[in-house]
Amino acid sequence: MRRMTVADIRKMKAEKKPIAMITAYDYSSALIAEKAGVPMLLVGDSLAMVMHGHETTLPVSVESMILHAQMVMRGSKQALIVVDMPFLSYATEQDAVHAARRIMQEGGGHALKLEGGVEVVPMIRRLTEMGVPVMGHLGLTPQSQHQIGLRVQARDEQAARKLVEDALTLEKAGAFAIVMEVVPAELAALIARLVSIPIIGIGAGAGCDGQVQVWHDVLGIFDGKSPRHAKRFAEIGEMMTKAVAHYVSDVENKSFPTSAQSATMNAEILAEIERDYR
Ligand code: KIV
Repeated sequence: MRRMTVADIRKMKAEKKPIAMITAYDYSSALIAEKAGVPMLLVGDSLAMVMHGHETTLPVSVESMILHAQMVMRGSKQALIVVDMPFLSYATEQDAVHAARRIMQEGGGHALKLEGGVEVVPMIRRLTEMGVPVMGHLGLTPQSQHQIGLRVQARDEQAARKLVEDALTLEKAGAFAIVMEVVPAELAALIARLVSIPIIGIGAGAGCDGQVQVWHDVLGIFDGKSPRHAKRFAEIGEMMTKAVAHYVSDVENKSFPTSAQSATMNAEILAEIERDYR
Protein backbone atom coordinates (compact mmCIF):
# COMPACT_ATOMS: atom_id res chain seq x y z
CA MET A 1 0.00 0.00 0.00
CA ARG A 2 1.19 3.54 -0.73
CA ARG A 3 1.75 6.25 1.89
CA MET A 4 -1.33 8.17 3.11
CA THR A 5 -1.51 11.81 2.04
CA VAL A 6 -3.26 14.90 3.34
CA ALA A 7 -5.73 14.49 0.45
CA ASP A 8 -6.52 10.93 1.64
CA ILE A 9 -7.22 12.21 5.15
CA ARG A 10 -9.54 14.91 3.82
CA LYS A 11 -11.26 12.31 1.63
CA MET A 12 -11.94 10.21 4.72
CA LYS A 13 -13.99 13.09 6.13
CA ALA A 14 -15.82 13.57 2.83
CA GLU A 15 -16.66 9.86 2.84
CA LYS A 16 -17.64 9.98 6.54
CA LYS A 17 -14.95 7.42 7.38
CA PRO A 18 -13.78 7.95 11.00
CA ILE A 19 -10.05 8.76 11.25
CA ALA A 20 -8.00 7.01 13.95
CA MET A 21 -4.80 8.81 14.92
CA ILE A 22 -2.40 7.89 17.71
CA THR A 23 0.88 9.33 18.92
CA ALA A 24 4.12 7.46 18.20
CA TYR A 25 7.51 8.49 19.43
CA ASP A 26 9.96 5.86 18.23
CA TYR A 27 10.74 3.09 15.74
CA SER A 28 9.08 0.22 17.61
CA SER A 29 5.82 2.07 18.33
CA ALA A 30 5.65 3.16 14.67
CA LEU A 31 6.09 -0.47 13.54
CA ILE A 32 3.23 -1.57 15.81
CA ALA A 33 0.94 1.29 14.75
CA GLU A 34 1.70 0.47 11.14
CA LYS A 35 0.79 -3.21 11.63
CA ALA A 36 -2.44 -2.10 13.33
CA GLY A 37 -3.35 -0.01 10.28
CA VAL A 38 -3.26 3.51 11.78
CA PRO A 39 -3.61 5.97 8.86
CA MET A 40 -2.11 9.02 10.61
CA LEU A 41 0.53 9.16 13.36
CA LEU A 42 1.39 12.12 15.56
CA VAL A 43 4.91 12.64 16.84
CA GLY A 44 3.40 14.68 19.65
CA ASP A 45 5.23 17.02 21.96
CA SER A 46 3.58 14.94 24.72
CA LEU A 47 6.83 13.01 24.30
CA ALA A 48 8.22 15.57 26.76
CA MET A 49 6.20 13.85 29.48
CA VAL A 50 5.86 10.22 28.41
CA MET A 51 9.33 9.74 26.91
CA HIS A 52 11.51 12.34 28.65
CA GLY A 53 9.81 12.52 32.08
CA HIS A 54 9.07 16.28 32.06
CA GLU A 55 5.97 17.72 33.75
CA THR A 56 4.73 19.65 30.70
CA THR A 57 5.31 19.85 26.94
CA LEU A 58 7.15 23.17 27.27
CA PRO A 59 10.77 21.95 27.52
CA VAL A 60 10.72 20.12 24.17
CA SER A 61 13.26 21.36 21.62
CA VAL A 62 13.21 21.29 17.83
CA GLU A 63 16.16 18.85 18.07
CA SER A 64 14.09 16.41 20.17
CA MET A 65 11.20 16.56 17.71
CA ILE A 66 13.63 15.89 14.84
CA LEU A 67 15.16 12.89 16.63
CA HIS A 68 11.78 11.30 17.45
CA ALA A 69 10.41 12.05 13.97
CA GLN A 70 13.42 10.24 12.46
CA MET A 71 12.73 7.17 14.62
CA VAL A 72 9.04 7.10 13.70
CA MET A 73 9.80 7.59 10.01
CA ARG A 74 12.08 4.53 10.06
CA GLY A 75 9.24 2.36 11.41
CA SER A 76 6.50 3.69 9.17
CA LYS A 77 5.78 3.03 5.51
CA GLN A 78 2.10 3.88 5.08
CA ALA A 79 0.90 6.41 7.66
CA LEU A 80 0.87 10.18 7.25
CA ILE A 81 3.32 11.45 9.87
CA VAL A 82 2.41 14.72 11.60
CA VAL A 83 5.04 16.28 13.86
CA ASP A 84 4.36 18.82 16.61
CA MET A 85 6.11 22.17 16.46
CA PRO A 86 7.54 22.84 19.95
CA PHE A 87 6.52 25.66 22.27
CA LEU A 88 7.71 29.07 20.96
CA SER A 89 9.24 27.58 17.81
CA TYR A 90 6.54 29.36 15.72
CA ALA A 91 6.33 32.67 17.59
CA THR A 92 6.94 34.59 14.34
CA GLU A 93 6.57 33.66 10.67
CA GLN A 94 10.34 33.55 10.37
CA ASP A 95 10.67 31.25 13.41
CA ALA A 96 7.95 28.99 12.00
CA VAL A 97 9.65 28.65 8.61
CA HIS A 98 13.02 28.01 10.27
CA ALA A 99 11.64 25.32 12.64
CA ALA A 100 9.51 23.77 9.87
CA ARG A 101 12.50 23.52 7.54
CA ARG A 102 14.52 21.69 10.20
CA ILE A 103 11.71 19.36 11.34
CA MET A 104 10.70 18.39 7.80
CA GLN A 105 14.13 18.19 6.18
CA GLU A 106 16.02 16.63 9.10
CA GLY A 107 13.16 14.77 10.82
CA GLY A 108 11.32 13.79 7.66
CA GLY A 109 7.69 14.29 8.82
CA HIS A 110 4.99 14.95 6.24
CA ALA A 111 2.97 17.60 8.07
CA LEU A 112 3.31 19.85 11.12
CA LYS A 113 0.92 20.64 13.96
CA LEU A 114 0.84 23.90 15.87
CA GLU A 115 -1.40 25.17 18.65
CA GLY A 116 -3.60 28.25 18.70
CA GLY A 117 -6.38 30.17 17.00
CA VAL A 118 -6.43 33.46 15.08
CA GLU A 119 -3.08 34.42 16.62
CA VAL A 120 -1.25 31.68 14.66
CA VAL A 121 -2.98 32.39 11.33
CA PRO A 122 0.00 34.30 9.80
CA MET A 123 2.26 31.31 10.58
CA ILE A 124 -0.22 28.78 9.14
CA ARG A 125 -0.69 30.91 6.04
CA ARG A 126 3.06 31.27 5.51
CA LEU A 127 3.77 27.56 5.99
CA THR A 128 0.93 26.37 3.76
CA GLU A 129 1.97 28.88 1.07
CA MET A 130 5.42 27.26 1.20
CA GLY A 131 3.93 23.78 0.71
CA VAL A 132 3.91 22.61 4.34
CA PRO A 133 0.70 20.79 5.33
CA VAL A 134 -0.41 22.22 8.69
CA MET A 135 -2.71 20.72 11.30
CA GLY A 136 -4.19 23.17 13.81
CA HIS A 137 -4.84 22.46 17.49
CA LEU A 138 -7.64 24.22 19.42
CA GLY A 139 -9.38 23.90 22.79
CA LEU A 140 -7.08 22.72 25.53
CA THR A 141 -3.74 23.65 24.03
CA PRO A 142 -1.14 22.21 26.42
CA GLN A 143 1.58 24.69 25.38
CA SER A 144 -0.55 27.47 26.95
CA GLN A 145 -1.52 25.47 30.02
CA HIS A 146 -0.11 28.05 32.43
CA GLN A 147 -2.50 30.57 30.90
CA ILE A 148 -5.65 28.50 30.35
CA GLY A 149 -5.33 25.61 32.83
CA LEU A 150 -5.90 21.94 32.09
CA ARG A 151 -9.69 22.06 32.28
CA VAL A 152 -12.53 21.71 29.75
CA GLN A 153 -12.36 24.71 27.39
CA ALA A 154 -15.04 26.80 25.63
CA ARG A 155 -17.95 26.06 27.97
CA ASP A 156 -19.36 29.57 28.09
CA GLU A 157 -20.97 31.34 25.14
CA GLN A 158 -18.15 33.79 24.47
CA ALA A 159 -15.44 31.11 24.53
CA ALA A 160 -17.60 28.73 22.46
CA ARG A 161 -18.15 31.43 19.81
CA LYS A 162 -14.41 32.15 19.76
CA LEU A 163 -13.67 28.44 19.25
CA VAL A 164 -16.04 28.31 16.27
CA GLU A 165 -14.44 31.46 14.80
CA ASP A 166 -10.95 30.04 15.39
CA ALA A 167 -11.80 26.79 13.60
CA LEU A 168 -13.30 28.64 10.61
CA THR A 169 -10.28 30.95 10.49
CA LEU A 170 -7.79 28.07 10.63
CA GLU A 171 -9.60 26.34 7.79
CA LYS A 172 -9.48 29.56 5.73
CA ALA A 173 -5.77 29.99 6.52
CA GLY A 174 -5.07 26.59 4.93
CA ALA A 175 -4.98 24.07 7.80
CA PHE A 176 -5.79 20.58 6.46
CA ALA A 177 -7.22 19.34 9.79
CA ILE A 178 -7.66 20.51 13.38
CA VAL A 179 -7.09 18.67 16.67
CA MET A 180 -9.85 19.68 19.10
CA GLU A 181 -8.83 18.92 22.67
CA VAL A 182 -11.10 18.72 25.74
CA VAL A 183 -14.07 20.83 24.67
CA PRO A 184 -17.81 20.04 25.04
CA ALA A 185 -18.82 17.22 22.71
CA GLU A 186 -21.82 19.10 21.25
CA LEU A 187 -19.64 22.09 20.34
CA ALA A 188 -16.96 19.91 18.69
CA ALA A 189 -19.69 18.13 16.71
CA LEU A 190 -21.10 21.49 15.56
CA ILE A 191 -17.64 22.64 14.45
CA ALA A 192 -17.09 19.33 12.59
CA ARG A 193 -20.31 20.10 10.68
CA LEU A 194 -19.32 23.73 9.98
CA VAL A 195 -15.86 23.11 8.49
CA SER A 196 -14.89 20.96 5.54
CA ILE A 197 -11.57 19.84 7.05
CA PRO A 198 -11.35 16.92 9.51
CA ILE A 199 -11.80 17.70 13.21
CA ILE A 200 -9.74 15.19 15.17
CA GLY A 201 -10.96 15.06 18.75
CA ILE A 202 -9.30 14.18 22.01
CA GLY A 203 -11.76 14.49 24.84
CA ALA A 204 -14.15 16.19 22.39
CA GLY A 205 -16.78 13.50 21.92
CA ALA A 206 -17.93 11.15 19.20
CA GLY A 207 -19.17 13.85 16.82
CA CYS A 208 -15.64 14.60 15.60
CA ASP A 209 -14.39 13.25 12.28
CA GLY A 210 -11.66 11.29 14.00
CA GLN A 211 -9.92 10.72 17.30
CA VAL A 212 -6.35 11.07 18.52
CA GLN A 213 -4.99 9.49 21.67
CA VAL A 214 -1.64 9.28 23.41
CA TRP A 215 0.14 5.93 22.90
CA HIS A 216 0.77 5.39 26.63
CA ASP A 217 -2.89 6.05 27.52
CA VAL A 218 -4.26 3.62 24.91
CA LEU A 219 -1.86 0.89 26.00
CA GLY A 220 -2.09 1.50 29.76
CA ILE A 221 1.66 1.87 30.14
CA PHE A 222 1.68 3.97 33.32
CA ASP A 223 -0.20 3.03 36.51
CA GLY A 224 -2.41 5.52 38.22
CA LYS A 225 -5.15 7.63 36.77
CA SER A 226 -5.43 8.15 33.02
CA PRO A 227 -6.98 11.37 31.72
CA ARG A 228 -10.80 11.24 31.65
CA HIS A 229 -10.86 11.26 27.85
CA ALA A 230 -8.61 8.22 27.57
CA LYS A 231 -9.65 4.59 27.41
CA ARG A 232 -7.07 1.97 28.31
CA PHE A 233 -7.36 -0.70 25.60
CA ALA A 234 -4.77 -2.88 27.38
CA GLU A 235 -2.69 -2.97 30.57
CA ILE A 236 0.69 -3.22 28.88
CA GLY A 237 2.54 -1.48 31.73
CA GLU A 238 1.41 -4.17 34.16
CA MET A 239 2.33 -6.90 31.67
CA MET A 240 5.77 -5.36 31.14
CA THR A 241 6.41 -5.02 34.89
CA LYS A 242 5.43 -8.67 35.44
CA ALA A 243 7.62 -9.83 32.54
CA VAL A 244 10.66 -7.87 33.75
CA ALA A 245 10.15 -9.09 37.36
CA HIS A 246 9.94 -12.66 36.01
CA TYR A 247 13.20 -12.13 34.13
CA VAL A 248 14.88 -10.78 37.29
CA SER A 249 13.77 -13.77 39.37
CA ASP A 250 14.83 -16.24 36.66
CA VAL A 251 18.31 -14.69 36.55
CA GLU A 252 18.52 -14.68 40.36
CA ASN A 253 17.41 -18.31 40.73
CA LYS A 254 19.49 -19.36 37.71
CA SER A 255 16.60 -20.68 35.67
CA PHE A 256 17.60 -18.28 32.84
CA PRO A 257 19.47 -18.77 30.58
CA THR A 258 19.12 -22.47 29.79
CA SER A 259 20.81 -24.46 27.02
CA ALA A 260 18.00 -23.25 24.71
CA GLN A 261 19.38 -19.70 24.91
CA SER A 262 23.09 -20.72 24.79
CA ALA A 263 25.67 -21.66 22.16
CA THR A 264 28.06 -24.65 22.56
CA MET A 265 31.55 -25.53 21.34
CA ASN A 266 33.76 -28.58 20.87
CA ALA A 267 34.46 -30.04 24.33
CA GLU A 268 38.01 -31.16 23.41
CA ILE A 269 39.05 -27.65 22.33
CA LEU A 270 37.66 -26.24 25.52
CA ALA A 271 39.46 -28.87 27.64
CA GLU A 272 42.73 -28.04 25.85
CA ILE A 273 42.35 -24.32 26.55
CA GLU A 274 41.54 -25.05 30.17
CA ARG A 275 44.65 -27.26 30.52
CA ASP A 276 46.82 -24.43 29.14
CA TYR A 277 45.57 -22.05 31.82
CA ARG A 278 45.81 -24.36 34.85
O1 KIV B 1 1.36 16.05 21.86
C1 KIV B 1 0.34 15.36 21.77
O2 KIV B 1 0.32 14.16 22.09
C2 KIV B 1 -0.87 16.00 21.28
C3 KIV B 1 -2.14 15.22 21.39
C4 KIV B 1 -2.61 15.26 22.80
C5 KIV B 1 -3.16 15.71 20.47
O3 KIV B 1 -0.84 17.10 20.83
